Order: sequence, then structure tokens, then C-alpha cells
Amino acid sequence: MDDLKAKYLGQIADAQDEDALEAIRLAAVGKKGEVALKMRELGKMTPEERQTVGPALNALKDEINSALVAKKAALADAALDERLRTEWLDVTLPTRPQRQGSLHPISQASEELTAIFAELGFSVAEGSRIETDWYNFDALNIPGHHPARAEMDTFYMHRAEGDDRPPHVLRTHTSPVQIQSMEKMGAPLRVICPGGVYRADYDQTHTPMFHQVEGLALDKDISMANLKWVLEEFVKSFFEVDDVELRFRASHFPFTEPSAEVDIRCSWDNGQLKIGEGDDWMEILGSGMVHPKVIAAGGIDPDVYQGFAFGIGIDRLAMLKYGIPDLRAFFDSDLRWLRHYGFSCLDVPALHGGLSR
Ligand code: DAH
Repeated sequence: MDDLKAKYLGQIADAQDEDALEAIRLAAVGKKGEVALKMRELGKMTPEERQTVGPALNALKDEINSALVAKKAALADAALDERLRTEWLDVTLPTRPQRQGSLHPISQASEELTAIFAELGFSVAEGSRIETDWYNFDALNIPGHHPARAEMDTFYMHRAEGDDRPPHVLRTHTSPVQIQSMEKMGAPLRVICPGGVYRADYDQTHTPMFHQVEGLALDKDISMANLKWVLEEFVKSFFEVDDVELRFRASHFPFTEPSAEVDIRCSWDNGQLKIGEGDDWMEILGSGMVHPKVIAAGGIDPDVYQGFAFGIGIDRLAMLKYGIPDLRAFFDSDLRWLRHYGFSCLDVPALHGGLSR
């Protein structure tokens, strides 16, 4: 038995791979292996002999099995070590410039404005592009008969035959996220909601899908002055200038009272769009003090909390900042355009580094 033990443990120690181990296992402790053959001889022994030889054979079998298991694990470890040694990548190598993708100007603008509002204490919410008419309209004080519904050139989703519920809509603005943010987070609240919105409209400054960022600030003592300061700070930071000329125009939105639209001074010379000079104005946002009915629809008491809201056109901002004259080009996916106007994906915008170095 000692010979058997020495022989098999030696073979196991020398085995180079799993196949060799399996062959050893069959020869030693398999059904027809040497240990099994010895077990069969027990029948010919006297009961006294059997009492010592039987347990010894079992112990030998156990010992060989454990050695097999241990060796199998050691072989697997060695194989993994070998793979780790041969299959490795240097992830610190620079990427190849000709294969580098680029960030779309709208992604870039969204990240820049998120960085600015984050600095001002606003968190980010996203909402969904398919909305119920409650969130897109009613909760925002735009009841069924309201002309704003028609003005927005809404895309309605299809409802199955016989389903009388009002259809879902592709959200026409990011304002529904105001309501959802109030429901989720309560007051006081500071949140921005960037994202895609949809309207049936198409010309040099309108596309059926475009991007807005909604802003909402609620607290016990917020006034129109806070709104004006936040918007001015934002525009200065975004355009990276000390002064930008803004025009606040009295306006009307169902969800704010009073309401203001804000234009930015610009010029269109020979198809070139420039910000901060010239005699033209480009409307970039709508804003106002949130209507009490909207605050109540969000589940918050309008007698305690008040606040301001705004909706900025991100695509318009990107056109102005990067001098892109035609909005439609944003969505053509023309590779040459994307290479020209795209941004390096490795430059994450941050206020301390200069937004768009
Ligand atoms: N939702 C408006 C639109 O898409 C923009 C807007 C105006 C948003 C005033 C606001 C606001 O939050 O207060 O035309």
C-alpha cells in the first residue's frame, strides 16, 4: 500500500495538465483502478485482516483524491497566471487619433451647462421623452382647451382601437420634469432637467427634435431678482465672457406668472452667427415665477413655497457659442461636420479648467 501511495502521489505531483491528472485518477481510484482492485481482494481475507486493510485502503483512496483536487486547483491557478502574463493591455497608451470619435456639440453644451448649474447648487433630473398629457399639459396649467396645446405642434402617440384614454405625447418641453421633481424631492428644491423634446416644426432654427434644459428653484423667499441673477450668471459662464447683453421681455406662459422671455444680442453676417454684437436678438429661453397651480400640482403648498423656473434651448445656445448657423446640420450625422464641430471626449468640461478649452 505504501508503494501505491508513493507511486500515485509522485505521479500527481509531476502531472503537467488536467488530462494527465484524469488519467492518473482513473488508474488509481477509478472503478477499475488499482485501489478498487485491492478492495476486491478484501473478500479473500480473514475478518481480522479485513479490519485493518479495509480502513487503510479507504484512507489511501481519500488521500489520493485530495491530492488530485489540490493539484487541479494549482494547475488552474498556474494557467490563469500564465494568461495574465501573456494577455495584457497597456490601457495608458494614447488612443489613435484617426480612430477617435468626438462629442456632439449638443452633448458638449449639455455637459457645460450642467457643470455651471451644479456649481450653483442645482441637481440634475432627466424624466422621460414619452409623457402623459397630465404631466406635459394639465399639471402645468395647460387645460384641454388651451391654445398652447395647439401652438406646440404636439406629436401624439397612437392608442389601440377602443382605448379611450388620452394619448401619450412626445414631450413638447422639459417642463413636465418640474412636476415630477417636486413629487419626488419636495421643497425646497433646486433642479435642472436637460433632454430632448419634440415638436412638428422644421426650418433653419427649428427641428422636430431639439433639446432644452428646464430649471426650477423653490424656497420660501425666492423672487424674480433671483431668477434674473441666476440667468445672467449662467449666460456669462456659458459664453465665457464678463458681460453679455440680455433682453428680458414680458411674456406669457400658462405655468408662470409673471413670465419673461430672454433674448441674447447677436448678428448674422453672411451666414455667420456671432454672439454679443450686431442688431439682432435670438430668443434663448422662457422663464418666470412658477404659477401657484403648478406648485400645487407638484404636491407642494403654494402658500408656503414659491420659486422661479426657466426653459432654455440648448441647441440655440450651442449655435451661438460655437458659431453654427443652421440648426438642421446638428442632426444630419454628416461625419465631416461632426469632425469639424465635435469635441474631444477626453476633455470633461469643468469650471476650474475653462469650460471648453
Ligand atoms: N416650456 C416652455 C417652452 O418650451 C419654456 C419655458 C418657459 C419653461 C417658461 C419654463 C418657463 O420653465 O418658466 O416653450
